[in-house]
Amino acid sequence: MPDLDLPPHFRFGVATSAFQIEGAWNDDGKGPSIWDTFGHTPGKVRDDIPGDVACDSYHRYGDDIALMSSLGLDTYRMSLSWSRLIPEGVGRPNPAGLDYYDRVIDGLLEAGIDPNVTLYHWDLPQALEDKGGWANRDVADWFAEYAALAFDRYGDRVRRWATLNEPISLWIGYGVGFFAPGHRDAIAGRQAMHNAMRAHGRGVQAFRAAGSPGEIGIVLDIWKREPATQSPEDIALAHQGEDDGFRFFLDALRGGGYSDRLRHRLEAEGTLPDIRPEDQALIEEPIDYLGLNVYSRVVVNSKTNDPDVWAQSDPQPGGNFLDNGLEYYPRAVFEALEMVRDDYGWTGPTYITENGMIDGPSAAENPLEDDERIRYVRGFLEWISEAIRAGHDVRGYYLWSLMDNYEWSAGFSAKFGIAALDPVTLDRLPKKSALWYRDLISDHRAKR
Ligand code: NOJ
Repeated sequence: MPDLDLPPHFRFGVATSAFQIEGAWNDDGKGPSIWDTFGHTPGKVRDDIPGDVACDSYHRYGDDIALMSSLGLDTYRMSLSWSRLIPEGVGRPNPAGLDYYDRVIDGLLEAGIDPNVTLYHWDLPQALEDKGGWANRDVADWFAEYAALAFDRYGDRVRRWATLNEPISLWIGYGVGFFAPGHRDAIAGRQAMHNAMRAHGRGVQAFRAAGSPGEIGIVLDIWKREPATQSPEDIALAHQGEDDGFRFFLDALRGGGYSDRLRHRLEAEGTLPDIRPEDQALIEEPIDYLGLNVYSRVVVNSKTNDPDVWAQSDPQPGGNFLDNGLEYYPRAVFEALEMVRDDYGWTGPTYITENGMIDGPSAAENPLEDDERIRYVRGFLEWISEAIRAGHDVRGYYLWSLMDNYEWSAGFSAKFGIAALDPVTLDRLPKKSALWYRDLISDHRAKR
């Protein structure tokens, strides 16, 4: 294990997103989002519990900020709800929504916590979905209008922005149907992914046009595929998994367009999106930083698709799997950073915008004693230290998440928080990992 030794300028934070914590789904003029509709459709989310209340952060953001302040966090990664700000997605803004984020941002700044704001974390206004949503090329215009509003209103106080969080969500929502809006249409799925990249470019352009100080980037999730054997089948499966995931976006952002390997396959499948000559220049608009969400890796085995085969043949001694069933592989963060540098030439500022783990079954007995989360986070921070020593410009880390929250289709069943929620009062109850994180940050601060 590498040492945990992060440079003085390194910043520590936590991350959440609007839909997963705010609740208040139709309060004060907010329009519905695709996740409101999805959650209200029977059979779509675990236990049919919609995100109507979530962590009630719309009313309890003060508790969230107080908790973060007590942990000594430097920064908070959050997102804006598009349909809270513009209920119909385009056109008339909602003054109460605009005021809400003023209160959150000002509260954070008063507590000495830097807001890092993502414009799109999966909750498209339903009114825009009714016009075809992300599968409609016009979404780039709609997004640019929304982004301009956000920069105009908050650009004086927010120093770090992201256009999109994990655009792979669009494949899951339009191609596979497991996320909102629940379509199973591969052509729409690929088009939505491509349109998201175009919208990202328009967002970056809007940011430059607004002249706000600060930085803008995009957040991608990196799940590298490791072939279980060196058989051609396993290797091909690993390539396919990466091409369909993070490489789709990185090729376009950094590589001059989708790779031939991907294009050929999509052509053969009949799912190549409508890509126009002007699109690539837009997608390649230079960004100021890259945000990477890294949780683990995926081992692919064309014969069995059974991760246990890998577990048995893994040379590392014991402890490689978490109680929740996911492989504990903290080196994933180092490998992600090496990959973006070696394959895409990215050497710019980078943030680990998400990393965290779901409680395993053993946490049910004592949810606040999350020793395994401490080991997990520490392992990732050690590998981030190693990456920095190897020359990567990693400037900060956001633990997912501040508190147990609404985990999309899994509802409340997947708990990622360093604080639990009291099921009755919704009070935020720090877990052992929160106190450990607080001490780590305070030790680190002593170095500054
Ligand atoms: C990915 C997403 O950005 C976030 O919304 C989600 O809750 C976490 N990672 C955990 O799955």
